[in-house]
Amino acid sequence: MTILVIGSGGREHAIVWRLSRDSRSHKLFASPGNPGMAACATLAPPAASTPEGWLAVAESINAGLTVVGPEAPLVAGIADTFRAAGRPLFGPTAAQAQLEGSKVFAKSFFRDHSIPTARFVAAATVAEAELALASFPFPLVVKADGLAAGKGVIIAHDRPAALAAVRKLGAPLVIEEFLRGEEVSYIVLSDGRNVLPLPPAQDHKAAFDGDQGPNTGGMGAYSDDRILNASQRQEILDTIILPTVEATGFVGFLYAGLMMTADGPKLLEFNVRLGDPETQPLLHRLSSDFAPVLDAAVHGRLAGVSLDFLNAPSVCVVLASGGYPGDYATGVPIQGIEEAEATGATVFHAGTRQGGAGIETAGGRVLGVTASGPDLGAAIEHAYSAAGRIHFAGMHYRRDIGRKGLSRYNESTAGT
Ligand code: AMP
Ligand code: GLY
Repeated sequence: MTILVIGSGGREHAIVWRLSRDSRSHKLFASPGNPGMAACATLAPPAASTPEGWLAVAESINAGLTVVGPEAPLVAGIADTFRAAGRPLFGPTAAQAQLEGSKVFAKSFFRDHSIPTARFVAAATVAEAELALASFPFPLVVKADGLAAGKGVIIAHDRPAALAAVRKLGAPLVIEEFLRGEEVSYIVLSDGRNVLPLPPAQDHKAAFDGDQGPNTGGMGAYSDDRILNASQRQEILDTIILPTVEATGFVGFLYAGLMMTADGPKLLEFNVRLGDPETQPLLHRLSSDFAPVLDAAVHGRLAGVSLDFLNAPSVCVVLASGGYPGDYATGVPIQGIEEAEATGATVFHAGTRQGGAGIETAGGRVLGVTASGPDLGAAIEHAYSAAGRIHFAGMHYRRDIGRKGLSRYNESTAGT
């Protein structure tokens, strides 16, 4: 099959890497792709990063299946454009993508379908938002309406901070109750009626160890079956995911960002795509062929289909540019990728480019060093021993990816 993967980050590298390991070989293309993906796919940059630009790429290679990594093309209507042209694409329509594209739309949808979520008020104006602040104890959460790459959410601990957040983010916005618990990422494939869940994963959104510092796109993630037990998974499917699929006919990856509260799972947000970095550890564990499942999903035939995962936890440590999530330099030479891979880990490229003297940095999140192991401690140790072989000026990364899981399961890494 000829498959086009849209995007240029670690998530998309993991998708093409996994497709390249299927038992039947595919013609793989990535648009625009990155130097890491060039090892397993042909890079086919679009003339314009628009639905029409990507459709032209898909037609030029006669793609039988297109998979979209990031949310922006989905919100811009790429699935509608492909559908009108009769080109199979696995992803939601622009209308369905509003579940991620607009917080006001999403929260109203959760309320209308009785989906458990934080109590909230949607405010159309700054004045309305200021009034709504009185209905919540502190801390409370202020959320911008549109796509904000993780930067549109402010947790305010007192009234001056809440007022400043409202003025900074501007209307429309959502004010909501602060929830306590552990966050979990639970992602399913949906064909519009049937869903096929991936194993659970946990992201690390804060920039620094111990969940300190500003929010990022995600500084690392791990996947371990024990993150959710069978009854928690069923509850999430029954109360959150299936009602959504039933109401919308959603096709694509549906990512539930959950808070596991004392009152059960509550939905913080939906993403209408795979998570980044969660995809790296998730697909690292996938042991069955990927393309036939994506193909079944795009044609509404997921019923009875299964995916097999190694019974081995996996960990991805993101190596970020100095200064990220704030301003950072690009064009910084990177050393040690081959040495890291020689340990058996997989290094996914997230923000890299080919420079005159080799691979150099091109983004905030630069590489995702990913490894699996017989237990979570071994996977963590393997990922960090590989990460330690990579260097670029200014590089920073969290040293505690997966540690919450370790303490939950009373495991330890050999060195600690
Ligand atoms: P969101 O884009 O809605 O997922 O929010 C980004 C991050 O902000 C989440 O991953 C949480 O860490 C945090 N967050 C969002 N909403 C809440 C909430 N109601 N209570 C506590 N933390 C939240
Ligand atoms: N890792 C969080 C996200 O993909 O939105």
